[in-house]
Amino acid sequence: MNRPYVVLGVSASLDGRISLGPNRTLMDLDERDEVLGTREEWEDFYNELARRNSVDAYMEGSNMLVAENEELRPLESYHGEDDLYSDHLPKEVVDKPGRDGWLVAVDGRGRLRSGYKGEENKPLLHLVSKSVSPDYLWFLRKTGIPYIVAGEERADLELALIKLKSELDIQTVLTSSGGRLSGALIKKGLLDEVNIRYNPVIIGGFKTPTLFASPELKEDEWPISLSLIKGEVTDTGHIYVSYKVE
Ligand SMILES: NC(=O)c1ccc[n+]([C@@H]2O[C@H](COP(=O)([O-])OP(=O)(O)OC[C@H]3O[C@@H](n4cnc5c(N)ncnc54)[C@H](OP(=O)(O)O)[C@@H]3O)[C@@H](O)[C@H]2O)c1
Repeated sequence: MNRPYVVLGVSASLDGRISLGPNRTLMDLDERDEVLGTREEWEDFYNELARRNSVDAYMEGSNMLVAENEELRPLESYHGEDDLYSDHLPKEVVDKPGRDGWLVAVDGRGRLRSGYKGEENKPLLHLVSKSVSPDYLWFLRKTGIPYIVAGEERADLELALIKLKSELDIQTVLTSSGGRLSGALIKKGLLDEVNIRYNPVIIGGFKTPTLFASPELKEDEWPISLSLIKGEVTDTGHIYVSYKVE
C-alpha cells in the first residue's frame, strides 16, 4: 500500500452523534460532554487502539479546534518572493531528538492560527491545500510548523496520506476525526479500520455532528460494507465495536 494504514477511533451516542451540538470545539467542553466518555475513559480507549496498531501519527480535522462560525485571526502579510507552496518539513523538526510520532491536522483552508506546535515529542504538521494564502504559509514557516501541500481547494486526503508515507515514513495513522473528516476518508476508500465506543445516551439534533457526515448515497452507489473484528457490550451499557472496512 502506498499510503499509511488508517484507523478511526471515535466515541458516539447511541444515535451516532459525536458532539453535543454544532460548532463545539475542544475549548467548549463542559461536564455534559462526559456522556461521551470521561477523559480517562477516552484515553483508555484511544491509547489501546494506538498500542494495538503501533500508531506513528494522530490525525484530526480542523473543526475540533476552530468552529466553522469562528472569526479567523488576521495574519501578517507576506512580501517575500520564495515559493511557499512546496512541502515544508524542516530538518530540525523531522530529526528532532526524542521525536516519537506526529500530530497531523487537516487544515485545507488555513484556519488553525493559534500557533500550537504539538507536543514535546509529537510535533504538529498541517495538511494544507493550494487555496491557502502565502500569508498563512509564511505564518506556519515563521512559527516553525511543518506542512504538506496537497489539493487545490481542500486537502487532497489521498495525496496527503501518500506523502505522509513517502516523505516521513508514517506507516499507521490513528484518527478520532470529526464526522466530516471520517465521512470524507471512508467515501474515498482511505479508512481501513473503524472503532466506535457507543455510549448509552441519545443526543439528537438536526445539525449536531454525526459519524461519517458526507454527501447522500448516489443511485448507483452501494453502502460501504464492514466486517467485524470484535465487539463487546459492557454492564454499563457501553458498546465497543471494531470493524475492518471492506
Ligand atoms: N466524539 C468523538 O470521538 C469526537 C472525535 C473528534 C471530533 N469530535 C467532535 O466533532 C466535531 C467536529 O466534527 P465535524 O464533522 O464538524 O468536523 P470534522 O470532521 O473535524 O471535519 C472538518 C475537517 O475535515 C476536513 N474535510 C472535510 N471534508 C473534507 C473533504 N472532502 N476533503 C478534504 N478535507 C475534508 C476539513 O477540512 P478543511 O480544513 O478544509 O475545513 C476539516 O479539517 C467537533 O465538535 C469535535 O469536538 C468528536
